[in-house]
Amino acid sequence: MKRISLEETDSTNRYAKALTTHRGETVLVTAEFQTAGRGSGSNTWESQAGKNLTFSLMAHPTALPASRMFVISEVTSLALLDALSTLAEGFSIKWPNDVYHHDRKLLGMLIENDLSGKYVQRTIIGIGLNVNQTHFLSDAPNPVSLAQILGREVDRHQVMELFLDRFRQRWQQMEQGDFTQLHTHYLQHLYRRDTTARFLDAQGTFTGRIRDVEPSGHLVVESQGETRRYEFKEIKFII
Ligand code: BTN
Repeated sequence: MKRISLEETDSTNRYAKALTTHRGETVLVTAEFQTAGRGSGSNTWESQAGKNLTFSLMAHPTALPASRMFVISEVTSLALLDALSTLAEGFSIKWPNDVYHHDRKLLGMLIENDLSGKYVQRTIIGIGLNVNQTHFLSDAPNPVSLAQILGREVDRHQVMELFLDRFRQRWQQMEQGDFTQLHTHYLQHLYRRDTTARFLDAQGTFTGRIRDVEPSGHLVVESQGETRRYEFKEIKFII
C-alpha cells in the first residue's frame, strides 16, 4: 500500500480522487489538518490540527457489483469496530456507517465510489476519527473522542495500524464473496437494532424499531405493525 502523509490539504477525499493510480493499487492519504474536510451531508468535518485521524483509503474491489456497494460500508465499519474493541467496550455502528460509543459519535465516514459499467471500479473511503480532541466547537450534537473514552492520550499511529490490519481482513472477506457473514456481523453490531427508539422522518417523529438493513443499504424500521424503508438522509435518529 502506498502512503501519502500530508501536513495540510483541503480534503483527503478530494486529494485521493485527483490521484492517477493504476487498478489494484491501494493508497492511503492522511492529513494532519483539512481546511475543508467534508462531512456526509452538507456539513464540514471538524477536526483540530494534529489531534485526530483524518484519512482516505483508495482501493479497487475486484468484481463488486454496484448493486452491492453497501458492503464497503459494512467492511469498513466492522474493521473499525474490530480495531476499537481491542481498546474499550461500548462501540456500535450507527446506520449507515458512523461509529458510536454508547450515544456519542466517535467517527464519521464518507465513501465515494466510481463505477465502471455494473461494477465498483474504485472506492474512496474517507474517515474522520476523533482521537485526542477534547473540545468540540461545531454544533455537532454528541461528539466524543478516544481520549475522552479512555481517559488518556492515545497513540494515533497505533490506532491507524490496528485499523489497517483489521481492514485487510474484512476486505479479503468481501473479495471472497462472504457477504452473508459480513452482513450478519454488521447487523449484530448495529446501534439501536431491535430496541424501541424515537426517529424523525418526512412525516414527523415516531417510535419504531430497526428490523433490518437491506443489501442495498436501505434501513428497515417497524412502527405500529408497519415496515418502512429508508434511504440515507430520509430518517434521523432522535438521541
Ligand atoms: C460524517 O459527516 O459523518 C462523515 C465525515 C467524514 C470525514 C472524513 S475526514 C477524512 C475524509 N476527508 C473528508 O473530506 N471527509 C472525510
